[in-house]
Amino acid sequence: MTNFLSLADVTDLDALIQSGRDAKANPFADQHLGKNKTIGLIFFNSSLRTRLSTQKAAQNLGMNVMIMNVGQDSWGLEMEEGVLMNGDKAEHVREAAAVIGRYCDMIGIRAFAELKDRDKDYKEQVMHQFARYANVPIVNLESATRHPLQSLADCITIEEAKANSSLIPARPKVVLTWLPHFKPLPQAVANSFCEWMNARAKSGNVDFVVTHPEGYELAPEFVGNARVMHNQDEAFDGADFIYGKNWSSYTHYGQVLTQDPSWAVTMDDIRRTNNGKFMHCLPVRRNLKVSDEVLDSPHSLVIEQAANREWSAQAVLKEILKSI
Ligand code: CP
Repeated sequence: MTNFLSLADVTDLDALIQSGRDAKANPFADQHLGKNKTIGLIFFNSSLRTRLSTQKAAQNLGMNVMIMNVGQDSWGLEMEEGVLMNGDKAEHVREAAAVIGRYCDMIGIRAFAELKDRDKDYKEQVMHQFARYANVPIVNLESATRHPLQSLADCITIEEAKANSSLIPARPKVVLTWLPHFKPLPQAVANSFCEWMNARAKSGNVDFVVTHPEGYELAPEFVGNARVMHNQDEAFDGADFIYGKNWSSYTHYGQVLTQDPSWAVTMDDIRRTNNGKFMHCLPVRRNLKVSDEVLDSPHSLVIEQAANREWSAQAVLKEILKSI
């Protein structure tokens, strides 16, 4: 693996999921791989899980870690080519990426969608500019349209839950549901979850359903062949996993079209499922998106899911270390 920008960089998804589970069972088995190697973690946006889990994974592999918050710790970075740099951005990504690439053997980047210009966000300018100028492998720590380290952790969490419970079938019903929120949030986590679950559905590992109110359709390239339902109750019937996430509209780009509280997940929803598990990437606003009762019940997998971010990062960093 020479970059980890999306699922397209994964050659064997089953093996990558298993690698994450192996890392969880034996975290320090590959410490030799990262000796004298450095990863730079570059954040354009806030993070708790991605920042700490990726740092921990790199350390488990024996790597050195440097972390920088762009704009707070560094100069603001200009991404556009050929512009007169007379604004608030003091450094161009051409120099910044090239210089960071001299200090680091690989670079992780977090850069969210701005939700102002859909075409611009969906071009993934920041990721591609770093990939173009850094000359070292790039790891996506959540970009404008995808969050693949989260999706890999989600796959690990589902496989682990299957292995730990005889009640979950070999091909569980997984439902991605839109949740209400007052702020416009990016589509990245939902897009990525669709991308990875569609791959898992294709290989017979899950039955995948997406449910959301009208107007919250995700981009066709991410929804793929998933079944889409606008009736959340019907979507939840017999579900083994409910994966909750809010996203703003893709068609009315970046807008909040409804905050309908009936879309929040409560124990009434869980009772419609097949003793279903609740997943969310976190952070989550309690009682706005999902009730305390669900989050504090044995149905919730959110802490284990977040813990698995360490093992998804470790599986990916290991693959990249093997290639450099
Ligand atoms: N799920 C996730 O990426 O969490 P952070 O935004 O805290 O990194």
